Amino acid sequence: DFKPLVFSGVQPTGNLHLGNYLGAIRKFVALQENNDCIYCVVDLHAITAQLVHEDMPGQIRAIAAAFIASGIDPEKHIVFNQSAVPQHAELAWIFNCVARIGWMNRMTQFKDKAGKDRENASLGLFAYPSLMAADILVYRATHVPVGDDQKQHLELARDIAQKFNNDFMEHIRRTDYGVDTMVGEEHVHAYFPAVEPLIDGPAPRVMSLRDGTKKMSKSDASDLSRINLMDDAEMIAKKIRKAKTDPDALPSEVEGLKGRPEADNLVGIYAALADKTKEEVLQEFGGQQFSVFKPALIDLSVAVLAPITGEMRRLMDDTSHIDGILRKGGERARVRAEKTMKQVREIIGF
Ligand code: ADP
Ligand code: NA
Repeated sequence: DFKPLVFSGVQPTGNLHLGNYLGAIRKFVALQENNDCIYCVVDLHAITAQLVHEDMPGQIRAIAAAFIASGIDPEKHIVFNQSAVPQHAELAWIFNCVARIGWMNRMTQFKDKAGKDRENASLGLFAYPSLMAADILVYRATHVPVGDDQKQHLELARDIAQKFNNDFMEHIRRTDYGVDTMVGEEHVHAYFPAVEPLIDGPAPRVMSLRDGTKKMSKSDASDLSRINLMDDAEMIAKKIRKAKTDPDALPSEVEGLKGRPEADNLVGIYAALADKTKEEVLQEFGGQQFSVFKPALIDLSVAVLAPITGEMRRLMDDTSHIDGILRKGGERARVRAEKTMKQVREIIGF
């Protein structure tokens, strides 16, 4: 079977927020204990929605700094920047020829990000999921920790892998690069694995603090809607105090959070930060008012985030150190990606 390998990426597009941390980065840290992991700053993705960025080098360093400040070990695992490994773009082109336009047309994130003027969105934004599939599969990675918003893109990555495996089945058999594996109940001989999304946990989709029906996002016009990883303790406290809630006390069972999106969101955030389940949080706070719960959430948020923010600032001040980590990570990633691409070119017949 395929060797387990974890891959994920974060775009260098400004304001990293609590949703990115709980939906992605905190899970990256937990997974590194028992897995081989590759964590990528995805700068090629960052130019899909907006071509020109004010300070791309600074944004790239900020994501790498967030990974490391959160506890990722760049010696044991690989931390690098996507464009340093051109094999991602090469495989993405091949996947553009594997994927069907109809598959891409179903992607809801494209519809959200392109907005009304779809004809004027970049071709790159449309093809984004194909590059994302290449990011993962150029390492033949098997597990991808992401937030809930990425679920559809990972299903597409599985479809691309499966179509490549089927279309080139005879070619794959002629090499000894394929792997015998199970897909569902079926035994197959495959070159690319069926990637598993890792979306679980109490906060797979962190919602806006101002509107429990919208996800917390870098692009929300209201800064009060999100907790940024660079916010200081005072700002975190202010945003949680102002977070929208309802007038009722917290329920003692998870069932009681139904129809209360803001309460559900804050309990989920507390649980994720405390490494607890929502059940456990409600055992502690059920029957309490938000006037009791919010101060506890502020204390916990500051206790978890302040050390990360401090370490991020320190790392970002030492640009040559962080650039060195990215350079070494890029070299290691390139060796692994080229090993795959050599085989892929041979399978295709290039
Ligand atoms: P963004 O979605 O903020 O523009 P990225 O696309 O770079 O940023 O996402 C980085 C990771 O953060 C992805 O795994 C994504 O699923 C996760 N993520 C983003 N927003 C949220 C959120 N509100 N809740 C949970 N995870 C999120
Ligand atoms: Na996203």
